Amino acid sequence: MATSAPRGGLLGRVKPLDAILATAEKKSLHRSLGAFQLTLFGIGCIIGTGIFVLTAAGAQKAGPGLMLAFIIAGAVCIVAALCYAEIAAMVPVAGSAYTYSYATMGEFLAWTVGWALVLEYAIAASAVSVGWSGYFTGTILNDTFNIALPAYLTAGPLALGGAPGGLINLPALIIALLVTWLLMIGTSESAKVNAVLVMIKVTALTAFIALTLPRVDSANFNPFLPAGVFGGFGTGVGAVGAAATIFFAYVGFDAVSTAAEETKNPQRNVPIGLVGSLLFCTVFYILVAAGAIGTIGGQPVMGPGGIPFPTGSEELARQCAMPQFSEALVCSNEALAHVLRQIGFGTVGNMLGYAAILALPSVILVLLFAQTRIFFVMSRDGLLPEVLSKVHPKWRTPYVVTAITGVIVAVAAAFFPVGQLADIANAGTLYAFLMVAVAVMLLRRRDPDRQRAFRVPALSVIGPLTIAGCLFLFFNLPTSAMLVLPIWTVIGLLLYFGYSRSHSHLGQGRVEVHEDEAHDLEPHVPGIDDPDHKH
Ligand code: ALA
Repeated sequence: MATSAPRGGLLGRVKPLDAILATAEKKSLHRSLGAFQLTLFGIGCIIGTGIFVLTAAGAQKAGPGLMLAFIIAGAVCIVAALCYAEIAAMVPVAGSAYTYSYATMGEFLAWTVGWALVLEYAIAASAVSVGWSGYFTGTILNDTFNIALPAYLTAGPLALGGAPGGLINLPALIIALLVTWLLMIGTSESAKVNAVLVMIKVTALTAFIALTLPRVDSANFNPFLPAGVFGGFGTGVGAVGAAATIFFAYVGFDAVSTAAEETKNPQRNVPIGLVGSLLFCTVFYILVAAGAIGTIGGQPVMGPGGIPFPTGSEELARQCAMPQFSEALVCSNEALAHVLRQIGFGTVGNMLGYAAILALPSVILVLLFAQTRIFFVMSRDGLLPEVLSKVHPKWRTPYVVTAITGVIVAVAAAFFPVGQLADIANAGTLYAFLMVAVAVMLLRRRDPDRQRAFRVPALSVIGPLTIAGCLFLFFNLPTSAMLVLPIWTVIGLLLYFGYSRSHSHLGQGRVEVHEDEAHDLEPHVPGIDDPDHKH
């Protein structure tokens, strides 16, 4: 169905909210999820490479201050999550922050958000793939089968500002392609599978905490802030630098907001699901960090001037190859398993490794799924070539865009180190979170009477706090990661003015209400059951 819409200036092409909502109505999903299922789903998306792997990078930036970093990043995520909850319950359609921005700030800014979400989802999927590779190489190949894959096949050659010295990260490439294949042929993940994976992850982390905390030596927390709270602009170190990196450990909760339309009593359950899963993870993360650092120590490897060497850099790789650092937490690719092995729990360490190997692919699946859906919606709006939104007749998946995205994710995973991928993903995510907060505040002002299943409490405080928190973390990323966002945006703008603006359906005067979302596509986020369609 198409009606005509006025053409606008640069900020004038705002997609009418009612057209977006009409699409949503066609989906008419049952409200079946309760607070517990939603929380479980959130934890499934959140716990991944961030805690299992980046604990090492976080310690390299902040030492024991990593615990403070988890609190700071968690706090920013909680206020952002509330904003997501309001808008997702109100505009429950595919496309997340991109769609919300289209309806509030117009096509141009929506394009920049959609473009930044590529960093959030695709690059995050690459980061999780690299994290998986660390555990696969260490736990399965080295410890279980005694196979030593040559170092040049387990790390990529590219690092912004340094080279860790590998050629290609083969396991990361393979897992990313494998998950892409599963998504292409329409593999979803039932709520049951998600619940089992959450149990495995939580059991692994609980075992870690139970075994490490009794052996904590308080001397290991000294000095608590070896790189200070603020390590200096652009360095990405210090407690807030670590917070900007470890923010990655919380990314994924926004997937919970996409389930808002399937939630019973969303005003109560959505915030419980979002804030509950975030709080749960925050507590676990702090205890895990305390256990890891308190047992084997987690002081950074210091470079000149008492500034920690950048994670993923050639200098750090060189230092880590020296005997005095070879067992250091900050040098490990499988941080948590390494800690357990170091304190004499080799078997449990390996089991934790298996848990990570089993559970991380489902995080890659959710992230890749989210990315393909955003590309799908952008292409359906005419901003990307239509061939991308082609749905496979048998698999019911947008297979073209899934294949292209998967290959890009796999290539990035093959060539970049995990910490830098995570920092880049964080830059894009922080921009998207910020824009969601702006969209929520704009909509409250412009459309105050529209029904909201969930309202952010004290939005005049929480909204600006979210914006400030996102800016704060962004400006504490390393310069290289900060620069990726504007460079990526410029590439996006060339594409926008070269192609998308003239091909935009809205720009051509077409406002569409899509039926295919309800019929052609499997509309569900992996990890949540579709009441009409059994997996
Ligand atoms: N939060 C997710 C992870 O840490 C993306 O893997």
